[in-house]
Amino acid sequence: MTRYAHITGWGMAVPEKILSNGELSSMVETSDEWIISRTGIRERRIAAPDETTASLAADAAIKALSVANLRPIDVDLIIVSTSSPEHIFPASACLVQDQIGAIKAGAFDLSAACSGFIFALNMATQAIRSGSIENALIIGAETLSRFVDWKDRNTCILFGDGAGAFVLQADDEPGGVLSAVMHSDGSGEDLLSLPAGGSRIPTSTESVKNGLHYIHMNGREVFRFATRVMVQATRESLEAAGLELNNIQLLIPHQANQRIIETAARGLDYPLEQVVINLDRYGNTSTASIPIATCEAIEQGRLKPDDNVVFVGFGGGLTWGAAVVKWTSPFPVRFKVRPGRYRYLARLRSWLSKLRRTLEGLIWGRG
Ligand code: UT7
Repeated sequence: MTRYAHITGWGMAVPEKILSNGELSSMVETSDEWIISRTGIRERRIAAPDETTASLAADAAIKALSVANLRPIDVDLIIVSTSSPEHIFPASACLVQDQIGAIKAGAFDLSAACSGFIFALNMATQAIRSGSIENALIIGAETLSRFVDWKDRNTCILFGDGAGAFVLQADDEPGGVLSAVMHSDGSGEDLLSLPAGGSRIPTSTESVKNGLHYIHMNGREVFRFATRVMVQATRESLEAAGLELNNIQLLIPHQANQRIIETAARGLDYPLEQVVINLDRYGNTSTASIPIATCEAIEQGRLKPDDNVVFVGFGGGLTWGAAVVKWTSPFPVRFKVRPGRYRYLARLRSWLSKLRRTLEGLIWGRG
């Protein structure tokens, strides 16, 4: 029997602190007028010192599990898509797994920059369709404010922090993720990158002095690439789903630049009123932008069960992709669960695991 991957839960988490264009104008040579006219961005959220990629991801995940009415222990797979992980390793997904108490889940990070959420959606869908798992949690989470050079006006005006999560569940009922396409072109590796801190340029006094631990971007080239591939990927995903654009009620693109989104909508001849745009309030939250925009579209009643929606994104790598989803709703439930409550148990379990390892070390270490 064919299995389908339905999106049954969603949640978002953004920091409270707002950084306005006006405030940025006092930090670098820019203006509210320039930023709005060239990007559409008015403000972005910036993580507080105690907020991290994993903590935002865990907050979004708990909200998504609450909507799906699923306990963390029912999650089989966690994928965190991020370009601002807590560490090179361990994966931020493992930290999320620990924070929410998803003790059964395998967890890993996925690195495909701003396209990562679509790649994660595809990977979780394939795992469900193959029959190897029942429930997946995919999260796009970023704290890019920690990797931005706040003296570089080309990049610091663009990015913001936040996280968004989906729960995917298996079902025999047709629907859910209908198609997904993924593409990459590594020849564009230098167009959008964080050069140092990896094995090619390990962190050194020299790399820090040269600012190689910050995001570097060729804005114009990325802009040109983005407008081309958004149209291509959207068409390709529609063809794979056997649908036409006029069957699509909503387009949710990666929120990088209002002009990129408008150019793509024009290229597709798709009405801008049916495109979700919220970058004015969050800036570019990279891989988190699509799930955050989705959560807001649902809250505003713009995305309803049975609607067909296209997600389309592009980013560093270079990477790009799109997915077509027949929107469903949370599965019916008999008992209401409160996934948030499991966080306290998760903290206790995590502490006990650490204690067990310490005791084992003491006992076996001596033996
Ligand atoms: O998730 C993917 C992430 N990246 C992107 O999506 C980036 C895509 N690219 C873009 O969004 C746009 O290229 C930018 C918003 C980054 C830049 O807009 P643009 O219209 O392509 O500007 P530009 O780079 O061609 O620069 C035009 C001028 C330059 O001055 P000169 O050389 O003409 O004198 C820049 O130095 O604007 C200047 N400029 C600024 N001026 C005021 C660049 N940044 C700023 C700024 N404020 N923040």
